Amino acid sequence: MPPKIPPFPMRSVLVLLVGALAPSPGPAARLSKGPYLQAPSAESITIRWETTTAEPATLRYGEGKRLDRALGPINPVTVQSGTNSFYIYEATLTQLRPNTSYSYNVSVGTDEAGPRRFKTFGTAQESVTFIAYSDTRTNPDRHAAVAANFRRHSPEFILHSGDLVAKGSEYERWSSEFFDPLAGVIDEIPMLPSIGNHEQDGANYLAYFREPGTQRFFYSCDIGPVHIVSLDYRSTKVTDEQFTFVTRDLEASRAPWKIVLLHAPMFNFGGHASLWGHEAYLPLFRKTHVDLVLSGHSHLYERFRPLVPKGATDAWAIQHVTTGGGGAGLAASIDDPSLLRTASVHHFMVLTATREQISARALDVAGVEIDAFKLRKKDGRQPAAYLAGAYAEEDVIAAVKKIPPREKKRK
Ligand SMILES: [Fe+2]
Ligand SMILES: [Fe+2]
Repeated sequence: MPPKIPPFPMRSVLVLLVGALAPSPGPAARLSKGPYLQAPSAESITIRWETTTAEPATLRYGEGKRLDRALGPINPVTVQSGTNSFYIYEATLTQLRPNTSYSYNVSVGTDEAGPRRFKTFGTAQESVTFIAYSDTRTNPDRHAAVAANFRRHSPEFILHSGDLVAKGSEYERWSSEFFDPLAGVIDEIPMLPSIGNHEQDGANYLAYFREPGTQRFFYSCDIGPVHIVSLDYRSTKVTDEQFTFVTRDLEASRAPWKIVLLHAPMFNFGGHASLWGHEAYLPLFRKTHVDLVLSGHSHLYERFRPLVPKGATDAWAIQHVTTGGGGAGLAASIDDPSLLRTASVHHFMVLTATREQISARALDVAGVEIDAFKLRKKDGRQPAAYLAGAYAEEDVIAAVKKIPPREKKRK
């Protein structure tokens, strides 16, 4: 069962005019994390931040450079993590204008952060550019070097497929391994995460992240032409709530592209030799025409040929990519005819989706391209040339199973 996190008292937040706000008395609070953006959409966005002392906060925001609206007083939720207590604040801005730039700042006691900027998504956005990466734990300098590249690609959001920190239950790691390397990034570009094994029980993960929809480690959202499904890799059974949700969600989606984000790869050689979700999820993804599966867990880049089951006449080919190079110690891949590109380097991906095409690149910390590929579709059909390059899933599975156990255990 996921741990219970107290609900945020957002219903009681009052919208006030800035001029009516009095300065907060009391001891100075320390803004210890954030602010940072969560759960973005065309009409709303959630902003979270953390302090180490509990006192009411105020969030000011407005269109363009204005800060003429305010939410407050905003009271925190207390989180107990091991020996640490900390305070998480959440403000959800609603009734925003689509495709519009906003400014915001946060003040708690004498501490103030801002102004920061964000832009809402469009309601019928034709194209969207985003980052995907993963496994940012353990080496903050490497994570910072990867993250320092993001903004020059003007991404509208960031996907992270888990192992954000080395030990999710240890409070200190969230600053050093995650929030500090992402300072100046996630305050203006929202992140959509997926839980990894290093998040442990996920209590701090849920304390820090506001998922779109219900807080339960899996969710979906539409951004421009892309439908994104983020999964909890720990749930693999058809009888789990997640499978029911994902089945209905993927069957209902009419988005031009369906992308699944999860921690453990469905096909993978280096690092863990992971074959996740073959009983339940792989058939579902084929049936509901998932285009791209992005995962991490193994610390390398592996892109397979489009994969299909052997002998299928009406096959739907899925592009599987492991992009686990966000900072953790690197693993090596192997040579196999199913792989189109592998790299054992710290890296990230930049993807641009239109209705007709996904254009993807993988770049190392110096911005050097390590891979580039395109996915195309016409009237919902995959091009004949793409299907002609497909490779049998069964042959990958057989090759992965030949990897010695010692290799599989390597982190
Ligand atoms: Fe990992
Ligand atoms: Fe992992």
